[in-house]
Amino acid sequence: MAKQRAKLVVGNWKMHGRLADNKVLLQAVSQGAGSLPEAVGVGVCVPCPYLAQAQVLLNGSRVAWGVQDVSAHEQGAFTGEVAAEMAVEFGASYAIVGHSERRAYHLESAELVATKTLRALEAGLTPIVCVGETLEQREAGETESVIGMQIDAVLTKLSPDQALRIVIAYEPVWAIGTGKTATAEQAQAVHAFLRARLAAKSEAAAAGVVLLYGGSVKPDNAEQLFRQQDIDGGLIGGASLKHIDFLAICQAAVAANAVR
Ligand code: PGA
Repeated sequence: MAKQRAKLVVGNWKMHGRLADNKVLLQAVSQGAGSLPEAVGVGVCVPCPYLAQAQVLLNGSRVAWGVQDVSAHEQGAFTGEVAAEMAVEFGASYAIVGHSERRAYHLESAELVATKTLRALEAGLTPIVCVGETLEQREAGETESVIGMQIDAVLTKLSPDQALRIVIAYEPVWAIGTGKTATAEQAQAVHAFLRARLAAKSEAAAAGVVLLYGGSVKPDNAEQLFRQQDIDGGLIGGASLKHIDFLAICQAAVAANAVR
């Protein structure tokens, strides 16, 4: 059996939140996560203006925080962009890169996502690299070629040591925010494919890189997904905005760890 990797559950708030609501949510998540075993990591990726709030409310807790994107540049005349180093100044640990909403609405290329991944790593953040196919691509039998292209663009830019420090999130575009989850078998098949792709880079990366599933993960489907051999946790959108649901998903990771 493969080496047991730690489980990880990360919330992606997207463009949601206001100071007052965030306070209630972050305090509840921080308190609830306090009783989780060490083997399950918890994080929340908040909109940039709320980084300082996350830092104040989560500092010293079991919950790490991060951003949902970073600039490909270190600094300079890039109006509206946020540098990875800026997030680090607020104690961030994670940066989501290449989310399908950014690939689709901001026309981010695989090459740009790879550069952002490298930038995040160089700044000391853990990039959560998102990959995933559209429904059209799945139905055309292109899932592996699309995901292979997306992940290879990133891996070719990284040294073997850097490849070990990324997290990958498989998020089928057709499952995001739609209520349609990939079945555990469908998700596991893609995760196994991703692990094989990592093995081409290094055996250490294949064994050690944490692979998350994302796309309509809810308390009632999380454990089944997290029990799969190559699924090490989840990237949670909608359900991360409700502390009861988010904490229940964290508990599902604990339960899945116990049986896997
Ligand atoms: P969802 O979003 O859980 O709301 O489907 C997941 C994501 O986009 O990261």
